[in-house]
Amino acid sequence: MARLLMCPPDFYGIQYEINPWMDRRRGADQARAREQWDHLRRVLTEDAGAAVELATPRAGLPDMVFTANAGYCEGGLVILSRFRYSERAGEEAPFQRWFRGHGFQVALLPEGMYFEGEGDLLPCGEALCGGYRYRSDIRSHLAVSELIGREVLSLELVDPRFYHLDTCFCPLDSGSAVYYPGAFDRYGRRVLRALVPDLIAAPRKEALRFGCNAIVVGRRVVMNTGCPSLRRELEDRGYAVHEVELSEYIKAGGSAKCLTMFLDRPGLHQETRSQST
Ligand code: ARG
Repeated sequence: MARLLMCPPDFYGIQYEINPWMDRRRGADQARAREQWDHLRRVLTEDAGAAVELATPRAGLPDMVFTANAGYCEGGLVILSRFRYSERAGEEAPFQRWFRGHGFQVALLPEGMYFEGEGDLLPCGEALCGGYRYRSDIRSHLAVSELIGREVLSLELVDPRFYHLDTCFCPLDSGSAVYYPGAFDRYGRRVLRALVPDLIAAPRKEALRFGCNAIVVGRRVVMNTGCPSLRRELEDRGYAVHEVELSEYIKAGGSAKCLTMFLDRPGLHQETRSQST
């Protein structure tokens, strides 16, 4: 059973602008945001059969709902995020407390080295793919790979609207993934093509609806609405697709995947855990 971390949207809103999607004048509808988040949680627990755990939201930390950025967890070890923007740095302490309080080991990266968790680090089969430039530093990939005991393939993100790796890349299983080619440079596209035999390109329109920002639980995929061609590609491969309207979160530059963090990824090299703090 998949185990996911979410954080209720009690204090969610567009209170600052740290990516091109965010516009304080446009704001997010609080009631709709709550309904959409509740719907996502229901689909994950009832349809996808995942166990959802909840972090406690904090006033003044509106983006805490995006738990994908709390850290990256593998084999019971959490590498805590260090947020690039001060607006989100206040999330580090409450998330760290949550992880320690729930029995996880927590590793901290050196100060000044930015890393935004599962938003920028996704396992794809045996490989770990890391995004960098807008949020995470490429230097964090080496630090992460030393802690986890496997290599990180560094992929540069080149379109500011796809500022986290999980906005433009979604591994499905060890041999297949969805990506948005326009978010990567030629080298990154080549690396992904070499790594993933069945690489599905999201059309631009669907990438802009966060079609790549999907949650994969076994053969079920949970994603935002309005991505018909991706839906078809997934269904052709035997996946059941669940759509959840997440318009209020897109206003902050996030969607389904950003609202969850996996807590139960198996560790490949558990022996390296002794290095953590
Ligand atoms: N407003 C948030 C930010 O800019 C959205 C985070 C989306 N998270 C993600 N994993 N892509 O940091």
